[in-house]
Amino acid sequence: MGLTQILHRRGAPALLFLFTRSFALADLTVSAPPLFSYETKQLTDDTVASLTAADQKLFGFDDTAVQSGLSRRSGECKVFPGDEDWPSDETWDRFDELVNGALIPTVPLAAPCYNSWNLYNAAKCAEISKSSTDPYAHIADPTSNMWPIFQGKTCLAFDRPNGTCTLGSFPSYAVNVSSVSDVQLALNFARNANLRLVIKNTGHDYLGKSLGAGALSIWTHNLKDIDFIENYQSDSGYEGPAFKVAAGVTVREVYEAAEKHGVTMAGGICESVGFAGGYVAGGGHTPMSGLYGMAADSVEALEVVTADGRFITASNSSNPDLYWALRGGGGGTYGVVTSVIARAHPKMPFVTSTFTFKSGGNISTEVFMEGVRKYYEMLIPFTDAHTYSYFWIWHTSGTFEFQMMPFFAPNHTVESFNQLVKPWFDHLTKLGIPVTPTTELHDSFYPAYNVAWGNDGVGGLNAIPGNRLFPRGRWEDPEKFEETWGAIRAHMMRGKSLGGYHQAPQNRLNVDNAVSSAFRHVINFLIGAAVVEGAENATPTQMKKAVDVLTNDVLGPWRDVSPESEFGGSYLNEANVMEPNWQESFYGTQYSRLLSLKKKWDPKGVFYGPTAVGSEEWEVQDGDQGTQTQNGRLCKV
Ligand SMILES: Cc1cc2nc3c(=O)[nH]c(=O)nc-3n(C[C@H](O)[C@H](O)[C@H](O)COP(=O)(O)OP(=O)(O)OC[C@H]3O[C@@H](n4cnc5c(N)ncnc54)[C@H](O)[C@@H]3O)c2cc1C
Ligand SMILES: *[C@@H]1O[C@H](CO)[C@@H](O)[C@H](O)[C@H]1NC(C)=O
Ligand SMILES: *[C@@H]1O[C@H](CO)[C@@H](O)[C@H](O)[C@H]1NC(C)=O
Ligand SMILES: *[C@@H]1O[C@H](CO)[C@@H](O)[C@H](O)[C@H]1NC(C)=O
Ligand SMILES: *[C@@H]1O[C@H](CO)[C@@H](O)[C@H](O)[C@H]1NC(C)=O
Ligand SMILES: *[C@@H]1O[C@H](CO)[C@@H](O)[C@H](O)[C@H]1NC(C)=O
Repeated sequence: MGLTQILHRRGAPALLFLFTRSFALADLTVSAPPLFSYETKQLTDDTVASLTAADQKLFGFDDTAVQSGLSRRSGECKVFPGDEDWPSDETWDRFDELVNGALIPTVPLAAPCYNSWNLYNAAKCAEISKSSTDPYAHIADPTSNMWPIFQGKTCLAFDRPNGTCTLGSFPSYAVNVSSVSDVQLALNFARNANLRLVIKNTGHDYLGKSLGAGALSIWTHNLKDIDFIENYQSDSGYEGPAFKVAAGVTVREVYEAAEKHGVTMAGGICESVGFAGGYVAGGGHTPMSGLYGMAADSVEALEVVTADGRFITASNSSNPDLYWALRGGGGGTYGVVTSVIARAHPKMPFVTSTFTFKSGGNISTEVFMEGVRKYYEMLIPFTDAHTYSYFWIWHTSGTFEFQMMPFFAPNHTVESFNQLVKPWFDHLTKLGIPVTPTTELHDSFYPAYNVAWGNDGVGGLNAIPGNRLFPRGRWEDPEKFEETWGAIRAHMMRGKSLGGYHQAPQNRLNVDNAVSSAFRHVINFLIGAAVVEGAENATPTQMKKAVDVLTNDVLGPWRDVSPESEFGGSYLNEANVMEPNWQESFYGTQYSRLLSLKKKWDPKGVFYGPTAVGSEEWEVQDGDQGTQTQNGRLCKV
């Protein structure tokens, strides 16, 4: 039974939700952005007032909730299953009624691979194992995450009928939200009952931020609306096309809509990443960065449920400090975003170029490195020409391969692109390195995007990644350039591979938001990884060894040539969860303001995420796993 029926039974008004704001998309006003229909279904003071006193204590807003025995354990921990004050089954049932049956007790995605859940099914298990590297398999599940290492590897997708499959870092329950009211009720319940709260959109997060043992999870995946607003008038002064994008919409869905409406959107390169959740919250780097900066820079307004349970708008004129923090200050920290309104940019042509070259045969390592160095020398002209790239350099048993996939040039012609890269290609020719680029012109973003990007594989157990953002200043000073290139070259010579981008989002739309200062200076973004010995069976000692290699041997030399004092840093959404000095490294000069806003908007610590702003006050007691997982009780430090 749902809340509607309960209220009917009690003789409460038939109209459950007050439709506080509801505008046709045609008559937009600056003061009130339009709402999706699921956003008009709100929990109101009247609804709360119609509940029993006991229900009000559990499900009411912060200003109405009465502190009780439910609120705090003496140890300042969130309650955990088995604790005396863990909500009773009756309470969970009551909550389920209020959210119209949307509460889902967690069953791990791979449970059919084990006997212990009484769900064993060899065929199903084979299916689950096979799809465990496909992001969509995890997205469709209420609690699954794409990186089992941070889950604690407690229920891997292997056929092991007699093995163990436990919840590990998976939350205890998820709410399959389909209205703002569902989000508000979940948030109020978590806060009032002192439950750990997590938000899961797609589960892409690399650091375990959408996981949490013993938590209640807000699962936003089914909020799929997307609306084109032809002439949006924002309170920041922007006037033009925009999209309103619901919390569960993916990057590919945004690109499809943009193609349909003849505009360009700034989104990421992996199609299955959520647009309005962790991506925008973390800044969101994009192939459009050379023209429009970070994805968050295009965001004009967000609808948000804040820690007190209230539903508000964050924009230039409405809660501007929260608006500032939500654009770059990290996911799952300040509120639950239910939708964003982002600028749509003009349609334009794109040039993509893919090519590879490698060492071996008559190409020595020295010659290969010279070819790569010339690319590095040209990152200033390449980024000044608004281009972006995605490349890999593989080192396998003594040979190197450079893969450009692709060089991405918005608003270029083939001629202007060839002109731009000529010095590099001429140099490769001079070095005797053969390259045969596939260069194509596309008349809009979508076909250009599809050349080399799409769905990425996930689920890796044998490696942990980290990254570094190298500032342009290191390119402007010849001595610093030598040092920087030297560190990158040395990385490859040590037998390691890397992935990277040239990109310079700068602050091209001239906005003021929480995007890390490192992104305003970056010219080269590199991804490195450490191998986990023993992979799925890695012991905590082996895991710790991999973490140390990542932190010290892989990222250490990169950190030395991109110090925070020169605006170096690391991208918080794809980072090493054990990064030292993460506050400065992930958030740059914005950290202290972000921390004070965290205290203002979430004074009770409803939201927590590993390496999220303010997380230094908490710890996940996961025992010794060698790296930080979310498999344990969350407590104040
Ligand atoms: C294969 C792959 C490719 C990637 N490519 C790119 C890329 O090209 N560019 C780029 O910038 N990043 C990229 N990323 C990183 C990506 O941006 C982050 O993983 C991001 O956190 C994903 O957000 P999500 O909402 O999809 O994921 P989730 O794991 O569901 O959530 C991530 C974080 O955001 C929070 N969150 C989610 N929804 C909301 C919400 N509605 N309100 C408040 N908080 C919320 C969660 O609590 C969590 O802290 C990639 C990641 C992977 C794994
Ligand atoms: C699992 O255990 C059962 C009963 O103990 C045994 O018969 C079976 O062979 C075991 N299966 C595997 C795959 O080990
Ligand atoms: C979640 O809710 C949607 C309706 O919003 C429904 O279509 C879907 O089946 C539900 N999913 C699960 C796993 O319960
Ligand atoms: C945006 O907000 C700032 C700060 O409140 C204000 O100074 C500025 O005028 C606003 N922009 C517009 C175009 O209204
Ligand atoms: C793209 O190029 C055209 C023609 O050179 C120019 O008029 C336009 O302003 C450019 N667009 C952007 C977004 O730079
Ligand atoms: C390698 O051999 C090819 C083909 O014979 C030649 O074109 C190229 O110049 C040679 N490169 C070097 C570095 O000698």
